[in-house]
Amino acid sequence: MSEQEPVPVPEERRVHIFDTTLRDGEQSPGISLNVQEKVEIAQQLARLGVDVIEAGFPITSPGDFDAVQAIARSVRGPVIAGLARTHKADIDAAWGAVREAERPRIHTFISTSDIHITHQLQTTREDVKGQARAAVALAKSYVDDVEFSPMDATRADVEFTAEVCAIAVEEGATVINIPDTVGYTTPEEYTRYFARLYELVPELEGVRTSVHCHDDLGLAVANSFAGVLAGARQVECAVNGIGERAGNCSLEEIVMLLRTRSDAHGLDTTVNTRELARTSRIVTRFTGYVVQPNKAVVGRNAFAHESGIHQDGVLKERTTYEIMDARDVGLESNSLVLGKHSGRHALRDALIKLGFRVEGNALNQAFRRFKEIADKKKQVTALDLEAIVSDQVREASARYELVWFDVEASTRREPHAKVAVALPSGEEVVGESSGDGPVDAIFGAIQRAVDTSCELRQYTVSAVTEGGDALGEVTVMLRAHGRLASGQGVATDILEASARAYVRALSNALDGAAVREAEEVAAEAARVSVDWVRSLPSA
Ligand code: KIV
Ligand code: ZN
Repeated sequence: MSEQEPVPVPEERRVHIFDTTLRDGEQSPGISLNVQEKVEIAQQLARLGVDVIEAGFPITSPGDFDAVQAIARSVRGPVIAGLARTHKADIDAAWGAVREAERPRIHTFISTSDIHITHQLQTTREDVKGQARAAVALAKSYVDDVEFSPMDATRADVEFTAEVCAIAVEEGATVINIPDTVGYTTPEEYTRYFARLYELVPELEGVRTSVHCHDDLGLAVANSFAGVLAGARQVECAVNGIGERAGNCSLEEIVMLLRTRSDAHGLDTTVNTRELARTSRIVTRFTGYVVQPNKAVVGRNAFAHESGIHQDGVLKERTTYEIMDARDVGLESNSLVLGKHSGRHALRDALIKLGFRVEGNALNQAFRRFKEIADKKKQVTALDLEAIVSDQVREASARYELVWFDVEASTRREPHAKVAVALPSGEEVVGESSGDGPVDAIFGAIQRAVDTSCELRQYTVSAVTEGGDALGEVTVMLRAHGRLASGQGVATDILEASARAYVRALSNALDGAAVREAEEVAAEAARVSVDWVRSLPSA
């Protein structure tokens, strides 16, 4: 349903898409993806046709290592990259995690700005040069494809950054990425920076150069585009623009900018743009980061026309007010329909058409969920199936599980809820609570059942499709076990979706707390070794 003729783009005009949703994107507060969710996202990124997936930062936690390794083992097509500081332990971990990929890459970085060198790394420019040389040489001894990033390059002395990049190229780096780490540069300044780097390091002509822009001033896409016009042939970006602080360059925006205005600049990517909307939905679902309605390309209103004059124009001729076709970004591909009489085979075929290979027990569970929903909803569409499958992925990895709930709601009495939750040990616990409304009562009852206090930070309800019988999708973000975590739930009843979402957010908080404990133990052990961390693992 999302097939698109492959775009023939000659290599010199081809911009490679490096997706960092699972690494930089995952660094956004409250995002807590587990291994299975990361693999699902990576599989969708492969369907989308990105060139590189930066699957994670393997040294930072056992969970991150496992996720990168699982992606390297199972995702075919794109290059799979693992991030590493210039420390030997980081590079060894990155290699350990990506080595089984069809096309592995190690991406190593060190800051070249004096602000970072002095205050964070607390070292000297000479030491940075030495670390960059040793790191690229070590990475190169493992794998041919090595990317090097001089972090905070846009606030660094361009002459010094050029020296460090020259060293990286000399040691065999295949990609040189110039990060605007704090989203500080402007398009014209970035253009000049690239021009000067090419002047100072003519060897850059022999490698691929790359942009990595953050959105602190809302310029990430504009700056990335400027870098591409200045010669970069790789863009590092994230689905829905998620990432550290204000986020990264949005993948869907840069891809559609390159495709739509190819007439003006002659550049393009080989991304299957018809998978953009779906990729955006999957990332929204798993991360809990909801896309604003007016978001370019994938927002709910990106192709909606409100003014009468615009509606009139579009009805007469679509191109009067639309520069892109909604079908080209996959926003109108909801045609697949199943009903309550559809059998297991029909469901399996439909899932395969959507790109999901669900077999055995997972297929039985999906079928059970499908039947429950088909009983309440006349037509089950592609969007519903996508939501069911994502929900199942989340369920499979949840630590707590919602068993049942009862709720009494009335405008004359305080709502009251009773819930049963299965604990990680398998024991079933029950809790009761009143609340301001039925949702609040359910959340209170869950807290009582699991005996954990949580602070609710965000609660969002949306409909998966249009119509009164649509599936409701709820996202909850809360703070529990000392950690911000989100969870999602899907059901025809929004109270049930809310309860599922809350229980999953709690599970994720619990998982995150376990991971953090493991990280603290590892960091404590590592403090004794001299060459560990002069900079913390936040990139
Ligand atoms: O923003 C940044 O500089 C990074 C690097 C690790 C590329 O994320
Ligand atoms: Zn970044």
